[in-house]
Amino acid sequence: MNETQATPKNIVLVGFMGSGKTTVGRELHQRLGYPLVDMDQVIEERAGKSIPAIFAESGEVGFREMETSLLREITNHAGSERRIISTGGGIVGSEENRALLKQLGYVVWLSAPIDVILKRTGKNRNRPLLHTDDPAATIQLLMDQRNPHYEQVAHLKLDTSGLDFSELATGILECARYFFNTRS
Ligand code: S3P
Repeated sequence: MNETQATPKNIVLVGFMGSGKTTVGRELHQRLGYPLVDMDQVIEERAGKSIPAIFAESGEVGFREMETSLLREITNHAGSERRIISTGGGIVGSEENRALLKQLGYVVWLSAPIDVILKRTGKNRNRPLLHTDDPAATIQLLMDQRNPHYEQVAHLKLDTSGLDFSELATGILECARYFFNTRS
């Protein structure tokens, strides 16, 4: 899509595991009434398996193929407007995904410092990439790789460690409204 075409009115949430995408996504969905597309959840429902099971059986490569294929589908879907799209933390890893994310609408990067991410992700075992001997070091490594990519796709960056999720949603809505009004 070139810059002269209208940007679809979706709000897309990107950011590291535990950055608050799911919670903020639900809050935005409640406020706006737009459908919430939680990509990890859709992948699990379609595969009939949990994300750890997908990683165990098909590897990260298999998971990434499912993720990209769903993202293509979401982007091409007719009437693909006015949704809240919550993505998995690693979606920004491929060039194709980054281009598709930017086409989808207003992209918000939710961030948090390592200690906050560690605390939030330590509560469950759903993230196979963090099943390592030293999760803090793994988080640091992945963040170093991914932060430039989040930066590249995002229109807005918000630190989720200080504000509550309702305040975050208010901030996102104000900025998104401004963005869409100046584009259409
Ligand atoms: C991943 C993040 C997860 C999920 C998968 C891989 C990642 O989503 O997509 O475990 O590579 O960062 P959340 O960011 O919602 O935890």
